[in-house]
Amino acid sequence: MKLENYILSGKKLPIVTYPDPVLSTVAKPVTEFGEPLKELVRDMLYTMYHAPGIGLAAPQIGKSIRLFVIDVNYDREITKNAEGKAEYQYSDLEPMVFVNPVITGTSGATTYEEGCLSVPGVYEEVKRFDSINVKYQDMDGKEHEINANELLSICLQHENDHLDGIVFIERLSNLKKNFYKKKMVKEKVR
Ligand code: NI
Repeated sequence: MKLENYILSGKKLPIVTYPDPVLSTVAKPVTEFGEPLKELVRDMLYTMYHAPGIGLAAPQIGKSIRLFVIDVNYDREITKNAEGKAEYQYSDLEPMVFVNPVITGTSGATTYEEGCLSVPGVYEEVKRFDSINVKYQDMDGKEHEINANELLSICLQHENDHLDGIVFIERLSNLKKNFYKKKMVKEKVR
């Protein structure tokens, strides 16, 4: 089966929104590398592509484990079928899976306007490292190390924060942080 067909045959998982406590919890390492992990990864990729987003961490679907998926490259086109229903065409998929990632080196500084599927409607500039080194495992438990720059570096830092119980609004100034916290809590109550 083509990678794209495999990924796009997953199912959509509900995304947890701030201030759900799972988003503030430090996630546990992944220890089982069997079929259930692969199925979870497939469903997380499916959920990310259909949200759509460029990254999704396990805590965002309510699982407090050290795992996230990323694709900073793909394109999504919306077309209408014969009945006028919207259909999505995906191209240039470059799914990346990170299990038990550890940032082992950092350099430089950059800012980027970030958003998060768990904090809908909020986009703010966040200060990040420009370049990072990450050690991680793949779905089979094999170890890898990469050096990341630009959007991949930013996305990796954002997703890695989720594993440490940090949502990106926590990285804003106190004034902005408190504003968004109150706003999100109010919207959740409503
Ligand atoms: Ni996020």
